Amino acid sequence: MNSTDLIVVVVLVALFLLYKYLETIKELIFSNDDAISAVNSSSRDIAHVLTENNKNYLVLFGSQTGTAEDYAKKFAKELTAKFDLNVLCGDLELYDYGSLNELPENVIVSIFMSTYGEGDFPDGAVKFENFISTASESSLENLRFTVFGLGNSTYEFYNGAARKVQKYLQAAGASLLGSIGEGDDATGSTDEDYLTWKELIMGELKNVLSLDEQEQKFKPSFQLEILDTIDSNTSLGEPTKNYLPSALLKGEINGPFSISEPYLGHISNSRELFKSDDRNCIHSEFDISNTNLTYSTGDHLGIWPSNANEKVEQFLVAFNLNPETIFNMRQLDPTIKVPFPLPTTIGAAVRYYMEITGPVSRQFFGHLIQFAPNNDIKEKLTILSNDKNKFQTEITSKFFNIADAILYLSGGIKWETVPWGFLIETIPHLLPRYYSISSSSSLDKDSIHVTSVVENSIEPKSNTNVVGVTTNLLRNIQLAENKMLGSESNPLPVHYDLNGPRDLFRDYKLPIHVRKSTFRLPTNPSAPVIMIGPGTGVAPFRGFVRDRVNLLESDRSIKLGKHLLFYGCRNEDDYLYREEWIQYATILGESFEMNVAFSRVPGTPKIYVQDKLREQSKLIWQLIQDGAFLYVCGDAGRMAKDVHKTLLDIVMKEKGVSEDDAIEVIKMLKTSNRYQEDIW
Ligand SMILES: Cc1cc2nc3c(=O)[nH]c(=O)nc-3n(C[C@H](O)[C@H](O)[C@H](O)COP(=O)(O)OP(=O)(O)OC[C@H]3O[C@@H](n4cnc5c(N)ncnc54)[C@H](O)[C@@H]3O)c2cc1C
Ligand SMILES: NC(=O)c1ccc[n+]([C@@H]2O[C@H](COP(=O)([O-])OP(=O)(O)OC[C@H]3O[C@@H](n4cnc5c(N)ncnc54)[C@H](OP(=O)(O)O)[C@@H]3O)[C@@H](O)[C@H]2O)c1
Ligand SMILES: Cc1cc2nc3c(=O)[nH]c(=O)nc-3n(C[C@H](O)[C@H](O)[C@H](O)COP(=O)(O)O)c2cc1C
Ligand SMILES: *[C@@H]1O[C@H](CO)[C@@H](O)[C@H](O)[C@H]1NC(C)=O
Ligand SMILES: *[C@@H]1O[C@H](CO)[C@@H](O)[C@H](O)[C@H]1NC(C)=O
Ligand SMILES: *[C@@H]1O[C@H](CO)[C@@H](O)[C@H](O)[C@H]1NC(C)=O
Ligand SMILES: *[C@@H]1O[C@H](CO)[C@@H](O)[C@H](O)[C@H]1NC(C)=O
Repeated sequence: MNSTDLIVVVVLVALFLLYKYLETIKELIFSNDDAISAVNSSSRDIAHVLTENNKNYLVLFGSQTGTAEDYAKKFAKELTAKFDLNVLCGDLELYDYGSLNELPENVIVSIFMSTYGEGDFPDGAVKFENFISTASESSLENLRFTVFGLGNSTYEFYNGAARKVQKYLQAAGASLLGSIGEGDDATGSTDEDYLTWKELIMGELKNVLSLDEQEQKFKPSFQLEILDTIDSNTSLGEPTKNYLPSALLKGEINGPFSISEPYLGHISNSRELFKSDDRNCIHSEFDISNTNLTYSTGDHLGIWPSNANEKVEQFLVAFNLNPETIFNMRQLDPTIKVPFPLPTTIGAAVRYYMEITGPVSRQFFGHLIQFAPNNDIKEKLTILSNDKNKFQTEITSKFFNIADAILYLSGGIKWETVPWGFLIETIPHLLPRYYSISSSSSLDKDSIHVTSVVENSIEPKSNTNVVGVTTNLLRNIQLAENKMLGSESNPLPVHYDLNGPRDLFRDYKLPIHVRKSTFRLPTNPSAPVIMIGPGTGVAPFRGFVRDRVNLLESDRSIKLGKHLLFYGCRNEDDYLYREEWIQYATILGESFEMNVAFSRVPGTPKIYVQDKLREQSKLIWQLIQDGAFLYVCGDAGRMAKDVHKTLLDIVMKEKGVSEDDAIEVIKMLKTSNRYQEDIW
């Protein structure tokens, strides 16, 4: 063997080893503190991990924003509490499924799956989808499984991913226990759908596995430890461990930035876009110059919120918690990772890590029964947690959050009997909110803009002020940065600690990360573009149009195709970026055309974007024939559907075809990526 051969052999061996360990390396690099994972295992092989950790039940989830994860964990926790099972609960992306047909005897698999796009799986579950969709007939005949889907029936492919799980697994010979459960966000009934499904499945499991039911008692997955000093390793609300003083000593965080490692973005500019007193829309610009954070026009920005002072205070009072208490959590179950950076304080956890303001679930009430402060309240709790109609009228319809609800029940008595460990394990983690980026990565290389409508309303029934966590934070920052905090005409509903843990967020910084999307302009600038985005739905189109402005300014000889923008708002007061569009039009010339629908101008009829589309019916059809790309952004509830319907009408009318044929035309546009939606 000469030296060249030797080098070849060495390189081949190295490549082989690299290949073999790539998954392990990837896990090390991208390991996410928040994810539950089989920490006690050297392997991704699902049967191996189960055996190694002595588990006898498997709960897996595919989740994009945490809802499916939440339900999966609740389900796992209840299986443990009720039947004393040893449950492994993990993200589908953590394991390989080659051994799915060889799980230890009597292990049943429960899958929780949310749906995106056209019935697509969440990003982390795509490999699992590939595996089950190509599994051969009877290759999974030993497998017994249950499915619960998380979806929203306003979308066309309602619970598409969960339904596919059932279809593929059954095609491979696996048997479904009970029936598939489907949670529907649209009707706000996910919780009730889950409870109904869960009751049936638990009964089924009890029979099939001959389980003994015990009285439900909270079994902690962590042992709490109270500490007495704060040091440089104690989290005071830092987004990840890498932002702790002890870690920052070792240098700046260079990225790559992702949902497991956000960038601390400085809001260099922010302003109010609405002119009315009663509604607010905030334009925020995050400085990303000299960073490794990059984006493309059409992506989403994840913004990491923190809870408002008033809400933190109310929660601490309701449960009689001392915010100064410093604690650590030791894993009792190696497959369940700690949910946030530890050690930390109760105050920091409530402010930065726990979702304390959303609606309360009936199931949470069920779990609380064991900790009710007295028998009277226990009785009330039991009744409400068992009666969905009563729960709806007494709690949900009043827009109560957890603290509102329990104080209402107890008539103001504090719930000091509820263990802190239970709250940490039962209340969901505060997660980033996503915003359609409204800047252009070519024109605005150094900044990311977002356009957010502030969620702030008074619910007449209970007179509760219902506020969104992130959007009110962005509004507070806007007012503070422009030295207007305190001078607003209507008092702010909530206030925040804008300086953050150890002043980390001082000077208007927030943790952010970019999530890639597929919402993209055609690469050929001469292709016609039709953009439909009423309200905040116009956000990504500001980015699109700025992209085209930049392109034309770099080369005046480029021939742009027609770019039509259909925008809708109530009146002049909420007309977003009104002055900017005029500027863009002067640069883009005839190729840019704006159609604005006003819905609430006194003395004139209500006009929506789809009415404007109808007016231009002939042109729209002509542009579609010329290869136009269509984009719809904004409200998925009604707007996107109404626009879809209008486009069908336009095809039927102008092409002179039946509804079925028009449906085919629209489908074809969708599959060839010429009809894209960014709706929420
Ligand atoms: C892909 C995508 C893109 C998006 N793009 C944009 C965008 O460009 N611009 C934009 O403005 N938004 C956008 N959104 C929506 C955005 O992500 C947030 O959902 C929105 O801003 C509200 O966030 P928040 O934290 O302020 O409200 P949250 O705190 O999450 O509250 C959500 C809603 O629940 C209500 N609520 C609060 N407490 C209760 C209670 N106890 N009971 C009942 N209801 C309650 C709030 O008033 C609010 O309406 C997008 C969403 C997605 C998924
Ligand atoms: N998925 C969601 O839950 C969702 C999505 C987007 C917005 N919203 C809510 O809406 C509020 C404001 O959001 P926004 O600024 O984006 O929108 P917006 O200001 O409420 O609405 C923008 C324009 O769209 C019009 N519109 C209403 N229904 C429509 C339909 N079916 N088809 C076409 N146009 C329609 C509105 O008219 P009129 O209101 O005058 O009828 C208005 O002119 C927020 O508080 C947010 O909570 C909810
Ligand atoms: C952008 C977007 C697209 C969605 N597409 C669908 C869909 O096609 N079908 C469906 O049933 N639900 C759809 N949903 C609803 C989600 O599946 C549902 O909200 C679910 O609870 C999210 O679960 P997760 O937090 O675990 O990802 C969509 C939600 C969003 C925000
Ligand atoms: C974790 O792994 C070690 C070594 O393989 C083993 O001794 C231990 O029992 C495992 N722990 C659990 C809880 O499975
Ligand atoms: C913080 O943690 C690091 C690594 O775990 C350790 O080396 C260091 O001594 C700790 N610092 C303090 C103050 O405890
Ligand atoms: C970007 O990343 C590289 C490599 O990780 C690093 O050397 C560089 O300092 C980073 N730049 C900034 C501005 O963080
Ligand atoms: C379900 O979709 C509709 C339309 O976007 C929306 O109004 C509703 O808020 C969604 N539900 C949730 C909880 O996201």
